[in-house]
Amino acid sequence: MIVVANRGPFSFTRREDGSLATRRGAGGVVSALLPLLSGRPDTTWIAAAIAPGDRLAAARGEQVVEEIHLHLLDLDPELSRLHYDVVSNATLWFLHHGLFDLIRQPRFDRRFRAAWEGYVEVNRAFADRVVGVAAEHEIALVQDYQLALVPGLVRSRRPDLRVVHFTHTPFCGPNSIRVLPDDVATTLCGSMASVPCGFHTRRWARAYEASTREVLGDDADIAPWFVASLGPDAAALEEVAASPEARASGRDLDDLVGDRAVILRTDRIEPSKNVVRGFLAYDLLLEQHPEWRERVVFVALVYPSRQGRPEYLAYAQEIEQAVDRVNERWGTDGWVPVLLDTRDDFPRSVAGLTRYDVLLVNAMRDGLNLVAKEGPLLNRRDGVVCLSPGAGAFDELREAVLPVHPFDLTQTADALHRALSMPPAERAALAGRLRDLAAARSPSDWLADLVAHAEGEEPSR
Ligand code: F6P
Repeated sequence: MIVVANRGPFSFTRREDGSLATRRGAGGVVSALLPLLSGRPDTTWIAAAIAPGDRLAAARGEQVVEEIHLHLLDLDPELSRLHYDVVSNATLWFLHHGLFDLIRQPRFDRRFRAAWEGYVEVNRAFADRVVGVAAEHEIALVQDYQLALVPGLVRSRRPDLRVVHFTHTPFCGPNSIRVLPDDVATTLCGSMASVPCGFHTRRWARAYEASTREVLGDDADIAPWFVASLGPDAAALEEVAASPEARASGRDLDDLVGDRAVILRTDRIEPSKNVVRGFLAYDLLLEQHPEWRERVVFVALVYPSRQGRPEYLAYAQEIEQAVDRVNERWGTDGWVPVLLDTRDDFPRSVAGLTRYDVLLVNAMRDGLNLVAKEGPLLNRRDGVVCLSPGAGAFDELREAVLPVHPFDLTQTADALHRALSMPPAERAALAGRLRDLAAARSPSDWLADLVAHAEGEEPSR
């Protein structure tokens, strides 16, 4: 089996003696797949070389780590920038998450055309490697919007391979797909339509089908789509929760918040996560419900992401400004209303998830949002989850969460108040039900679904 994903499962650094040290890669796809694949002798992973050590590893050829055969593509840095920053993150990500401010953006000009060429070239480099290394009839699992052209490019050259594509983000609807230049939309949709495409929820799958029909026409051949949501790896999470690092973070948090109620969020610093509106809603809560002043702390564990993009750097600043405003307005000698921590520290996030009374996930739009499932499994306090219907996970968890409308600050503040005020018996019942719903799917269920669709079978449930 071949996994094709922009990020590799390991990143490399050069030791003084010239040998390579490995470290587990970042991101949701890696966390989900790595425990399932390591130790399987027949897995190949094709990824971009990102860090300087990765490039060194790429130059040395195939690397075998934990029995995964890793092929890193040493792409030209400018080409990678065009592919990753400009087309993948500033265009396709914005499109699928509904983030464009259409009065001003996007503008498809000559610079975009050059970037699009870069995107095509990088997808071709991935496809070339698949074509070059795949055994006859091998399964190839292509991940995400960064590699939307790989299915079509592989299909045309190796019809024997069993290819699926899985999108971890939302997929835009038929009006939004028309924002793309016509040829770009046709190339993207045409490639994806050539293989079974998977999504975390039926909502994104339907949007994909409607967009693809809009672009390719009603008579176009579109391979069947499927829905396969990802679930958390409960055992791996518990292992992290029991680690000395997470325990130390837990003690630090206890020292900081004492016996106050905790509203927690943990996210990448990412505009679609809607972090700033979360603070505005909290501000409103403190204004409308003075009884919560000094009795609650909003703990925001958010960490840097995609720092090559000005939008992300600006958003990080807006987050800090929003936090300062709330703390200046409401803070007292003995109480800091918002604790903002911007270190990238997974054990710290896990410690926070065990401790929250309310978990706020108010994303505008999100393919799934795994945190909304991880939190309930880790939490020890019958915490309430306030979850945006914009997150794919809402479709699975809706009956045991409080919905928060991502743009309605008043409604979000009301939901936070309701969550904080909920009587213990009701909290316990809700948290119990939520744990069951969150645990319903594991990473291996997800992988089995992808493999079954690659093999042309309906997955076993
Ligand atoms: O949600 C899609 C996704 O690609 C995840 O797989 C990943 O965790 C996240 O976005 C961040 O991606 P990256 O840091 O690779 O741009």
